[in-house]
Amino acid sequence: MDSQLIGQTLNGYLVRSALGGGGMGRVYQGLDVATQTPVAIKVLLPEFAEDEQFRTRFMREAELMITLRHPYITPVYTYGPWKEFLYIVMKLVKGPSLERILHKHQFSPLTAWQIIRPVTEALGFGHENGVLHRDMKTGNILIEPRGEGNHVYLSDFGLGKRPGLDTTLTASGISVGTPEYMAPEVAMGHPADLRADLYSVGVILYELLLGKLPFRGNNPQMTALAHVDNLLPMPRMLNARFPRRLETVIARALDKTPDARFQSAAELRDAYYEAVKAMDDDVRRAVYWPE
Ligand SMILES: Nc1ncnc2c1ncn2[C@@H]1O[C@H](COP(=O)(O)OP(=O)(O)OP(=O)(O)O)[C@@H](O)[C@H]1O
Ligand SMILES: [Mg+2]
Repeated sequence: MDSQLIGQTLNGYLVRSALGGGGMGRVYQGLDVATQTPVAIKVLLPEFAEDEQFRTRFMREAELMITLRHPYITPVYTYGPWKEFLYIVMKLVKGPSLERILHKHQFSPLTAWQIIRPVTEALGFGHENGVLHRDMKTGNILIEPRGEGNHVYLSDFGLGKRPGLDTTLTASGISVGTPEYMAPEVAMGHPADLRADLYSVGVILYELLLGKLPFRGNNPQMTALAHVDNLLPMPRMLNARFPRRLETVIARALDKTPDARFQSAAELRDAYYEAVKAMDDDVRRAVYWPE
């Protein structure tokens, strides 16, 4: 794919170099030739563009993403077909994904708040505008260093896989992405609502505060099923010092039953904030990753 695309100009956007790739395609650093502005270009695998239903939905959703403007959502500028591909052009975020950062950086309750606040605000904004994210994970959270602090961008809103499509893709042997963040109802192929996105935020929180995923199987199917069948390994079992109130927040976010979870992104954000606020300063600044 890289050799077909690098050096090409897709309707006015020059593809320069590869930034990475996920289950759906690849992301390139590019240039808006007319304005000489650097951009990020996400090109979907040709398999997606071939699917007529996907194509129609992609166009409709990309249109919606362009209107979904929020300080913590990676702006989408334009989209289109080019040859056998579909692409979207986004703001180029100058910084790594949270997935990359997590390899070497441990988060305290306080530093996790710097991520969780913007992420829940961006997600809540999408939900209020009738859009589900469907692929909440650390790889879709981008961190741009700015002066003293960081600016957080939530990416790939609405681009997540759909149950119908997943079946098609699995049949054709193509990877459908990682199920590590998948709510039990999604893993079972049931219709999902915003509470599935909030479950995934619970997984992200768990990962930030404990340095590991709550559920992992030997293969993607087993991982997806673990969300359905396995009990949550409670934070205080991994580390007895883990703050009790924060454990309650995480357990609620990761409840198997959508009705028992937080019912909005703001509710999750506020519960986390209250838990951190109630802690002693040294407790909120400590890290709780097990040895
Ligand atoms: N707008 C952007 N600006 C800068 N880098 C980006 C941008 N979008 C994506 N990237 C980089 O490209 C990498 C690949 O992104 P991509 O969305 O293809 O994969 P993913 O997020 O791991 O999986 P998924 O397909 O499930 O979203 C990301 O991890 C990120 O580092
Ligand atoms: Mg992504």
